[in-house]
Amino acid sequence: MRIDILTIFPEMFQSPFDASIIKRAREKGLVEIHAHNLRDWTTDRHKTTDDTPYGGGGGMVMKPEPIFAAVEDIKGEEDIPVILLTPQGRLFTQEVAEELARHDRLLFICGRYEGVDERVRAHLATDEISIGDYVLSGGELAAMVIVDAVVRLLPGALGYERAAAEDSHATGLLEGPHYTRPPEFRGWAIPEVLTSGHHARVAEWRRKQALKRTLERRPDLLARAPLSEQDKKWLREMGYQGPFGDRENQD
Ligand code: ADE
Repeated sequence: MRIDILTIFPEMFQSPFDASIIKRAREKGLVEIHAHNLRDWTTDRHKTTDDTPYGGGGGMVMKPEPIFAAVEDIKGEEDIPVILLTPQGRLFTQEVAEELARHDRLLFICGRYEGVDERVRAHLATDEISIGDYVLSGGELAAMVIVDAVVRLLPGALGYERAAAEDSHATGLLEGPHYTRPPEFRGWAIPEVLTSGHHARVAEWRRKQALKRTLERRPDLLARAPLSEQDKKWLREMGYQGPFGDRENQD
């Protein structure tokens, strides 16, 4: 996969993409990430990327010309997703991450200031994404969040191949608790089932813990999660009275 990011702060992307899973994915050749400086596509002496809004009011608006020139240069003739990061976009979720991970290329436009000229949204962007209902100072951190969530889904990016499929949200549920050695720490023992060596019992315990945790923390997810009849029975026993979606689980 190739990811291009258009920003006036390309230096912000250096360290986050030079550590951990993203670094390894880059080293393995699974992903190539380019953060481009929008100022390289300005044509005036001052490398201006913003201007005052028509109609008055405060703040500055990002000019369309350098953004159009940069996007056209970077994507060439290719038909690729051009994603504008904005609090007005569709909400980023694990499903959106999975959808983006299926593309060979992605191009992100990081907005700054009060906004981006509307013609960028209307005639250049093919998608608009928000990472949550809060306002950031710019799209840069949002792009980092999205790139991280997408890159870890690329086959080969995680050491343990099944990990991504079992993540919180990937299953439609939150994950249950995890434990490692020591078996007892400050008087807190790990659940006995985990040392039983009984795989079926461990799997059942994990599933129930995931259901319980989702019920306690994010019951809204249960209405959309793929659930088996057994899951539904357990949830009812745990006191869940809400609706179930119709996405059935295979097992
Ligand atoms: N730019 C500013 N706030 C944002 C948000 N919540 N998501 C994506 N881009 C943004």
